[in-house]
Amino acid sequence: MFDRLNELPADKILALGAAFKADPRPEKIDLGVGVYKNPEGVTPIMRAVKAAEKRLWEEETTKAYVALAGDPAYADAMIALILGDAVTREHIAAIATPGGTGAVRQGFDLVKMANPDARVFVSDPTWPNHLSILKHMKMETIQYRYFDDETRGVDFGGMMEDLAQIRAGDIVLLHGCCHNPTGANLNMVEWKAVVEHLNAVGAIPMIDIAYQGFGDGLEQDAEATRFVAANCPEVLIAASCSKNFGIYRERTGLLMAVMQDASRNKITQGSLSYLNRQNYSFPPDHGAKLVTMVLTDEALRADWKKELEDTRLTMLELRQQLADELQRLTGSDRFGFIAQHRGMFSRLGTTPEMVEKLRADHAIYMVGDSRLNIAGLNQRTVPILAKAIVDCGI
Ligand code: LMR
Repeated sequence: MFDRLNELPADKILALGAAFKADPRPEKIDLGVGVYKNPEGVTPIMRAVKAAEKRLWEEETTKAYVALAGDPAYADAMIALILGDAVTREHIAAIATPGGTGAVRQGFDLVKMANPDARVFVSDPTWPNHLSILKHMKMETIQYRYFDDETRGVDFGGMMEDLAQIRAGDIVLLHGCCHNPTGANLNMVEWKAVVEHLNAVGAIPMIDIAYQGFGDGLEQDAEATRFVAANCPEVLIAASCSKNFGIYRERTGLLMAVMQDASRNKITQGSLSYLNRQNYSFPPDHGAKLVTMVLTDEALRADWKKELEDTRLTMLELRQQLADELQRLTGSDRFGFIAQHRGMFSRLGTTPEMVEKLRADHAIYMVGDSRLNIAGLNQRTVPILAKAIVDCGI
């Protein structure tokens, strides 16, 4: 049987990490995988998470199963964090999932179960694993224009033109904030126009929100998701705690199904729990418990928010420093977009050959589509990157 398996393409983001590790050059800079690193190059365990972990170690008395949907207290805390008071609880079904990727996968699975004919519209570009998962699941996928290579902003006209093809029941995957890989985001006027269009057609938005708190702030980053949840008849929301709680390896995510017709909740919740059972049974609980403790304890929550905000501001400063440095070196504003983008990533908008040149000549690693992880930089390495960009003639 195994001889019938074909070699699969390596995940581009993860393969880059392996190539970086193998590079012996001491001055190498890793701007690949979306993991936050502090100025010392360390991905820290957040203070509040560490404190919760200690408390949990002392207080937890059993490792028996929790519930198929995960701990309801975790769902409640996360729903409040993401949706605020945009939608009341009886309109939301939710399951804990292994990370945000698990939530995305379960969301697609729910779509497939409810409507096998649904087509999924994704932004061009999007997180490559969205495409990979959809392909693996054999779901029809259509890309809509999103990024304007000239302005390095959103090509909103192109996006709406492409979304004119959607039909009732189709799914449109949107990034709640901090678009991955571009860093370019819709403004609220544009979000409203998208919602109006989807509602007019009867298409369903699915929001992937993996970077809440990394863009303009915890509340601001949730604004679009809250607006969509409050204004569309049905919405799927896949959330991740990997980045904003820094618990990448704990695999902590949540999938929400938001519906205006609350009478559908029991069956929807049952379907979500069923999908958990089929795919991996009980979702992991450790990270979910830490998140719940942090969000429901006043002191831990305040400390977490402070550390998250400091993280966000550090990334914004690095953006500004890089944009300023490039302005100084080139005498032009053409890299000003780096300071405008939000979240962990920006897309430089250069060719794979130039990305390769940065790697070969300067030991700077970024994803082939020229996505760079701002959090992989620090004040010392920003000028090195800026000079390399100019030296390569980008
Ligand atoms: C990324 O885009 O780099 C992150 O979301 C990590 C991953 O799993 O790809």
